[in-house]
Amino acid sequence: MQFSRRNGLALLGAAAVAACDGPRGAARLAGLGGSGPPAAPAGLHAAATARGLRVGSCFAWGAPGDDRGSFANPAYAALLKRDCGLLVAENEMKWQALRPDATRFDFSRFDAMINWADANGLPVRGHNLLWHQPKWMPQWAETHDFGATPARAAERLLVDHITTVCRRYGTRIRSYDVVNEAVNPADGGLYQTALSRALGGPEATLDLAFRTARTAAPGAQLVYNDYMGWEPGNARHHAGVLKLLEGFKARGVPVDALGVQSHIVTQGLDTRGAIAALEGDWRRFLDAVTAMGYGLVITELDVRDNALPAAIGPRDTAVADFTRGYLDVMFGYPALRDVLLWGMTDRYSWIEGLEPRPDGVKRRPCPYDAGFVPKPMRAAIAAAIAAAPMRG
Ligand code: XIL
Repeated sequence: MQFSRRNGLALLGAAAVAACDGPRGAARLAGLGGSGPPAAPAGLHAAATARGLRVGSCFAWGAPGDDRGSFANPAYAALLKRDCGLLVAENEMKWQALRPDATRFDFSRFDAMINWADANGLPVRGHNLLWHQPKWMPQWAETHDFGATPARAAERLLVDHITTVCRRYGTRIRSYDVVNEAVNPADGGLYQTALSRALGGPEATLDLAFRTARTAAPGAQLVYNDYMGWEPGNARHHAGVLKLLEGFKARGVPVDALGVQSHIVTQGLDTRGAIAALEGDWRRFLDAVTAMGYGLVITELDVRDNALPAAIGPRDTAVADFTRGYLDVMFGYPALRDVLLWGMTDRYSWIEGLEPRPDGVKRRPCPYDAGFVPKPMRAAIAAAIAAAPMRG
């Protein structure tokens, strides 16, 4: 297409809007279609917005110059600004980060992150207010002396934590993972922690967490967030989560949505066959969740490239196809609007540390490779977004 004065001026106008709007405007400019000289391909944020969806990622704290998935790393920040309309702290809002002990809070890292996000017009989700597993609570909490009236002391500790965090951020945070991973995948039962033992059991603890969050952050979406794999071997976990969600409803506990983490695991090169085999049970689970009136959030999408060859070409293709198939199923649910990736680039993904490949080659779980080059997975996410039914 020819560059005419007319569309040149239109672009200049759009650029001026973008300048006034700051970085979000710039992202919109990148997504402008139609006339004009070829623009940069649209960011995922622009594509998602056009369908009434939001896409985002986790990010981390880091000092300038650190090689991390941090807002202070210009290469990573550029990906966040280009592709994201929503962020979440990978670790910095967890008890382990915020609570050096039972009486003190340390908000310094999370504050720096949310301040940067605010300055760039990027909303932040809260993750999380209670990771209900002993190994993810700070060590002091697991050995804490709850004193002569343990139930009251535990209640005070939990209420104080949630109230302090929610009040500090007020309406800056519109969605919280209030409780994270409370269901044991081995048997579908609820974990116990020192806190829940003192407080009178896991159900009382989780209920209190949600009720406290509703009071302290009345406008926020309150999410129960869990692993929720669609791969074989998760039937007990699904049943346990359904039971928990039914219990919340029966007891009138204010829970708005299920956070489906979506650390998905490829099943081999035949992605079509794998998806066909997984889809039925998975839909039955999601149907049961949404029939109870819960919303859905994809909170932590990444891909463990299992049962795939080391060769990057076929591996990346299978990861992309598997992601596409998964998102197509998920976007079929109108209750889903927000999709967060657990990291934008393979360079900083937690998957390598969690479970290295047996053949020793580096994992490729994210939409950009370790050199920040977009992979087929990014195109698959863009295509799934473009094909998603429009949200009203
Ligand atoms: C992970 C982080 O990515 C790691 O850096 C950290 O060591 C452990 O936690 N489910 C969750 C996330 O809810 O908080 C986890 O994040 C990944 C699994």
